[in-house]
Amino acid sequence: MTKNYQWFDTGRFGMFIHWGVYSMGAKYTWIKSIEKMTDEDYDRYVKHFEPDLFEPEKWAKLAKNAGMKYVVFTAKHHDGFCLFDSKLTDYKYQEKDLLKGVIDAFRNEGLKIGVYYSLPDWHHPNYPHDARHPQRGIGKECDFLPYRAYLHGQVREILSNYGKIDLLWFDGSYPDTAHIWDMDNLEKLCRELQEGILISRLPGHDDFDTPEQNIPQQGLFDKNGNPKHWEGCQVLHGEWCYTREKQWKTPAELLQMLIRHTSRGGNLLLNIGPTSRGALDEHTESLLESLGKWMKWHKKAIHNCCGAPAEFPEPEFCRYTWNPEKKRLYLHLFSWPDRRIDLPNLAGKVSYAQMLHDGSEIRFTENLYGNVNGPNVPADGALRLALPVTSPENCPLPVIELFLDK
Ligand code: GLC
Repeated sequence: MTKNYQWFDTGRFGMFIHWGVYSMGAKYTWIKSIEKMTDEDYDRYVKHFEPDLFEPEKWAKLAKNAGMKYVVFTAKHHDGFCLFDSKLTDYKYQEKDLLKGVIDAFRNEGLKIGVYYSLPDWHHPNYPHDARHPQRGIGKECDFLPYRAYLHGQVREILSNYGKIDLLWFDGSYPDTAHIWDMDNLEKLCRELQEGILISRLPGHDDFDTPEQNIPQQGLFDKNGNPKHWEGCQVLHGEWCYTREKQWKTPAELLQMLIRHTSRGGNLLLNIGPTSRGALDEHTESLLESLGKWMKWHKKAIHNCCGAPAEFPEPEFCRYTWNPEKKRLYLHLFSWPDRRIDLPNLAGKVSYAQMLHDGSEIRFTENLYGNVNGPNVPADGALRLALPVTSPENCPLPVIELFLDK
């Protein structure tokens, strides 16, 4: 069974969307569990959920403009409330199929489609009261088999009723609940219904790793030292869903994040949390626009790129990304150096160098092995870039493109 990694490994950047009735609490996605709400307590959200400003077309345009290549949308989170038209429950938004709206809008913009589906369900009567359940410690025993059938049935619906689904993002398996899902058959079902699909967070059955709010310093490798496929998920302001209080990351921090993922062979799945009415707050919109502005000039240094070959160590405060097909090396400068920067082991390998954003030449000198050493000569084997005194205007995170096509 072939798994379609091509789009995943070249796209590098996706939009995560956490949206549901928990957005009304405007505190945390886990509000029902954290505040130990009963179904009755939580019903105030379910009953008053009114997404009158639902505009997936706008989300999709912002994502595309920011250079994102795929979306992952929460069809059902741990609270069990469905944002899709499941025939297996009434615990869903009844007016329209919100998942369909999202899928249509993002597909229309040419993005790949991922669906987030929570394995736990804090509403289903046959879901056990595990350690994270809102009613934890109360009425623990139950027959989970009807829940398993429901879960498989809903996955079947999602993978049958919406055309091509490229990715299914499961979430919420813990060692104490892993036996509930029947993972062998769940995986089989996914692969039967959607050829090439990628699966995440189904322990032992998934196709890539998903570090959360933490970027592996050197990337991720399997037992034999081969690089793994991976995707880091990150938040804009400290929580997954919309919150009233926010601690925003800056555009420069988010861009560094994207570069740090790409330079280690991973993807960045960047989360947004629309308001309960279905709109994006202005700050989220403007952050996405800032990313789009940078990506307009720099996307060549992200899409189709991975980490640089190990023979090229990164200079201080820099990251490399590398397009192996075109043999272009991108030097991302997290801080602007004093007039020059030395790049180890690149002497004799570069035919041309330029600033990526405006295609303006950067001249360089080289010290090929065996040359004379001296205080003003780059180290053996190094290539020295001569840089302008100050960083380019209006260009956070400048990038130098090096052509290694000699
Ligand atoms: C964590 C959170 C969950 C969220 C997920 C996204 O697992 O518990 O609420 O959806 O991260 O990665």
